[in-house]
Amino acid sequence: MNILILGGGGREHTLAWKLSQSPKLKKLFVAPGNAGTAVVAKNVPIGVNDFEKIKELVLEESVEMVVVGPEDPLVNGVHDFFLNDEALAHIPVIGPQKAAATLEGSKQFAKEFMMRHGIPTAGYSSFGPGDLEDGYAFLETLPPPYVLKADGLAAGKGVLILDDLQEAKSELKTMLIDGKFGEAGARVVIEEFLDGIELSVFVLTDGKGYLVLPTAKDYKRIGEGDSGLNTGGMGAISPVPFADKEFMDKIYQRVVKPTVEGLKIDKLPYKGFIFIGLIKVGGDPMVIEYNVRMGDPETEVVIPRIQNDLVELFQAVADQTLDQIDLQIDPRTAATVMMVSGGYPEAYGKGKAIEGFGQIGDSLVFHAGTQLREGQVVTSGGRVMAITSFGGTMEEALKKSYANVGKVRFEGMNYRKDIGFDL
Ligand code: AMP
Ligand code: GLY
Repeated sequence: MNILILGGGGREHTLAWKLSQSPKLKKLFVAPGNAGTAVVAKNVPIGVNDFEKIKELVLEESVEMVVVGPEDPLVNGVHDFFLNDEALAHIPVIGPQKAAATLEGSKQFAKEFMMRHGIPTAGYSSFGPGDLEDGYAFLETLPPPYVLKADGLAAGKGVLILDDLQEAKSELKTMLIDGKFGEAGARVVIEEFLDGIELSVFVLTDGKGYLVLPTAKDYKRIGEGDSGLNTGGMGAISPVPFADKEFMDKIYQRVVKPTVEGLKIDKLPYKGFIFIGLIKVGGDPMVIEYNVRMGDPETEVVIPRIQNDLVELFQAVADQTLDQIDLQIDPRTAATVMMVSGGYPEAYGKGKAIEGFGQIGDSLVFHAGTQLREGQVVTSGGRVMAITSFGGTMEEALKKSYANVGKVRFEGMNYRKDIGFDL
């Protein structure tokens, strides 16, 4: 089978690495890809939202399946684009259609979905530009800290958590009236603050049945001890040690089942990954967010633990036969550490030569923001490369990853030295 992956980060390198192990794979393409995907697939310089160019490529190269990495093309309707085109309609797309992708594309839509289907989540109210005074009044009814969320996609930056009421009011105004976060912030969801520890659960569904994939925890802040600015993710661990059987059963019953059932009831067509961001509050799971794709860097620990043939899994999604799949999971812990460019998540330089990663044998090296320039692998993004290791324990896995991070060099390289510190 010929497969095209859309995207170019660590998530897509991991998916490409896993798909390339399948005897069922013939040719693998990644658009646009990175220096890591170039080793296991053919990179094609096409943007993930350039649907017409994607169509040309798919027809020219007889692509038989498209796997969508990031949320953008899903929210923009890439799956619908295929279904509505006579020449493409028969080609399966792994990733939900636009209507279902709204679960990530609009926080208000996701909250309404959860309320409708009795899925536990923080209490909330939502406000548009005409409701500023109502928004202020709602904030006054809440105890601090205040959680403000831009309704639309804001590249992971749209959530503000503020201790001070005046600051919360002023930020609300900045979002609704002054256009902070642009269109995405023209509606704001204000939520009750939930105090607990976070984890994520990943589900693969074909719209009928589903598989619950391994859990993971990521580390979003740039600084040690979860301090400083938010990033896309600085590292991840799978499985999450505190997600014991009792807690997981609650997640299946209260969250996963009603989510998949809710999609069916609401006629939201879904073939793909559901990433459920959860917080454990007093022993109970509460949903923070839905994402309609895999996480990054969560993919770098979740996918390597899956022992099934990934082409077979995706084929079962396309054929709606996931209920016949017996999911096999590596019982060991996987840990990944992300190396990032100096300055990230603020301004950073690019084009720095990366050395030393070729000597790593006992860990997996997944490229994120890398590029091949005249035979040299150089940095091309904020998050540069992730190193994933297995271990009998989390400590063992982390020790291996950190030992190998020590072999990699590029100017300004930064990474968090405390992944897993809270577990
Ligand atoms: P989101 O973009 O919805 O994942 O939110 C980003 C981060 O904000 C989450 O990973 C949480 O750490 C935090 N967060 C979001 N909603 C809440 C909430 N209701 N209570 C506490 N923390 C939250
Ligand atoms: N690591 C968080 C995300 O992919 O959204």
